[in-house]
Amino acid sequence: MTITGAATLAGIMGWPVAHSRSPALHGYWLKEHGIDGAYVPMAVRPENLRRALQALPVLGFAGCNLTIPHKEDAMRAVDEYEPSAKRAGSVNTIVVRADGTIIGSSTDGYGFLAALRASLTGFNAAAGPAVVLGAGGAARAIVAALIDDGAREIRLVNRTPERAARLAKALGGEVRGVAWEARAEALTGARLLVNATSLGMEGQPALELPLDALPRDAVVNDIVYVPLETALLAAARRRGNPCVDGLGMLLHQARPGFQAWFGVKPEVTAGLRDAVLATLARK
Ligand code: ATR
Repeated sequence: MTITGAATLAGIMGWPVAHSRSPALHGYWLKEHGIDGAYVPMAVRPENLRRALQALPVLGFAGCNLTIPHKEDAMRAVDEYEPSAKRAGSVNTIVVRADGTIIGSSTDGYGFLAALRASLTGFNAAAGPAVVLGAGGAARAIVAALIDDGAREIRLVNRTPERAARLAKALGGEVRGVAWEARAEALTGARLLVNATSLGMEGQPALELPLDALPRDAVVNDIVYVPLETALLAAARRRGNPCVDGLGMLLHQARPGFQAWFGVKPEVTAGLRDAVLATLARK
């Protein structure tokens, strides 16, 4: 990275933050576009989030990303938030306005849909029933994106039913809670299956889900990207289902922030994927 004294600054706040792939991801784009800018990791303790955000305009930052555990808390720490943040219930992108106010948005839902569209031309959320596993922060952004994109039936499967019910209430639309034990039957007639739980991630328990009831042309997406080819995706691919891995959402959610801070709309390319995959392999 070569920067001057006039460099544009952005970064990511998390606690911890060392595992984040965002510096590598944005760093790739900065280099690709020859931009005089830097994207840095910022280890911010939860109790310091508000002060850290308020420091952004003071320090001349264009904005930042937020990751665990700050995304929900940031809703109460920004001056204003965009409708996308309200729908997702969280903020992952901060932009500092010229007047010094800080605006929060969520690009997770955008990233989810953009990743599906990038690998499946003509993907349409209104095509038929979607089954979403999970009711955490990631699931909320995904369900909101699906509803806002025209989905008419979402079967929300979660181990803790109260959490699914809360999410359904917050988002409106046709979200129906399904018991975790009924997840295999819930696949009947589905057009889309998304794993938005942590199951199947390295170090986490396996996702046990027989796919027999899932139509063979239904799209299968896993938000887990370590490993990239999860057991769910491998099983779905074997039976011929179109599959989308979890890396796409990570890469695409980063685009709106980069554009807002650095003024260039970056693309998700094979080169970018390879660069980020290399950082995952290094761990
Ligand atoms: P995130 O914000 O990344 O979505 P989260 O809020 O911790 O993370 O949500 C994790 C999701 O994985 C939840 O839906 C969780 O189910 P619960 O709401 O019942 O906790 C789900 N999950 C995690 N471990 C699970 C397990 N062993 N079996 C079933 N679901 C699990």
